[in-house]
Amino acid sequence: MDEDILALEGVGPSTAKKLISAGYPTVEAIAVSPPQEIMERTGLGFNTVIKIQESARKLMSSDYKTAKEYYEKRRLLKRCTTGSKRLDEILGGGVETQAITEFIGEYGSGKTQICMMLSVTAQLPYERGGLEGSVVFIDTEGTFMPERIYQIASHMGLDPDAVANNILVGRAYNSAHQCLLIDQLFSICKDRNVKLVVVDSMISHFRGEYVGREMLSERQQKLNKYLHKLLRLAEAYNLAVVVTNQVQSDPAAYFGDPNRPAGGNIMAHACTHRVFLHRGSRGTRVAKIIDSPYLPERKATFIITERGIADVEEEDSGRSR
Ligand SMILES: Nc1ncnc2c1ncn2[C@@H]1O[C@H](COP(=O)(O)OP(=O)(O)O)[C@@H](O)[C@H]1O
Ligand SMILES: [Mg+2]
Repeated sequence: MDEDILALEGVGPSTAKKLISAGYPTVEAIAVSPPQEIMERTGLGFNTVIKIQESARKLMSSDYKTAKEYYEKRRLLKRCTTGSKRLDEILGGGVETQAITEFIGEYGSGKTQICMMLSVTAQLPYERGGLEGSVVFIDTEGTFMPERIYQIASHMGLDPDAVANNILVGRAYNSAHQCLLIDQLFSICKDRNVKLVVVDSMISHFRGEYVGREMLSERQQKLNKYLHKLLRLAEAYNLAVVVTNQVQSDPAAYFGDPNRPAGGNIMAHACTHRVFLHRGSRGTRVAKIIDSPYLPERKATFIITERGIADVEEEDSGRSR
């Protein structure tokens, strides 16, 4: 069941059940069906159905909007600091809400560390670069370390118990479970003022389970569906979505980097901003923006320390840039 239905105005578990058994299992189905038909099939009253449909269309943002309304919505956009000024700068000021930011890199490139850092900084007040919200962390690889959250939070002078209490961790055991956890986000994010959703990693279960050419299109369809759900979530609740992705070697690449992001065009199109991570000299990490609709392709060097993500000292950065 698509739990997004529970996020709709005026829909509790019993109404959700009625809608689903009447043949409206998704928010989309509810939004586009004639109200008369929904009334007849579910036995719900006219006003209730109208209210539910309005809420469904809002969640899908499927109605026309004026450019001014768009502008007003964009003005609500917030940015979350990564802890590194340079990395924030190439991201246009930090990881933004109403968008999906994808961090791509090899094992050990720092993806999970960035996700854990953001899980702390997202809770900071706006003036410290935070989003003043709570966090959902979907962990598909079992690499989320609560100790690390405590460490980073204490270094920032925050109450580590309070910070850890505001991070809801979902350990996804396979791709179907991962999808289920994403479906549940629509009601969770509404109830808990969630401002950051992390999926680390978006793709590993899919890659592991859907092997071979004949399963590729099914895999891509599912991935597409869930990335779009995440984007819809980001827009509906003005929150930031961060996903991580692996690289796969491309034997056809004779020139340049033989490693390219996994997930093909689907990942490339669904993610708003893509950031490539790789190891730099002397333990540093280098981030590079790729395929962004408006961010230039710039690079930034940062380091991973006990305190989390940080800038390299001036003298070092000059050399590695
Ligand atoms: N407490 C820490 N202090 C300093 N560096 C750390 C700490 N914890 C992890 N790291 C660094 O982070 C790296 C792991 O990065 P990680 O985010 O797990 O990679 P990925 O998720 O891309 O595979 C380690 O190799 C180490 O260099
Ligand atoms: Mg990782």
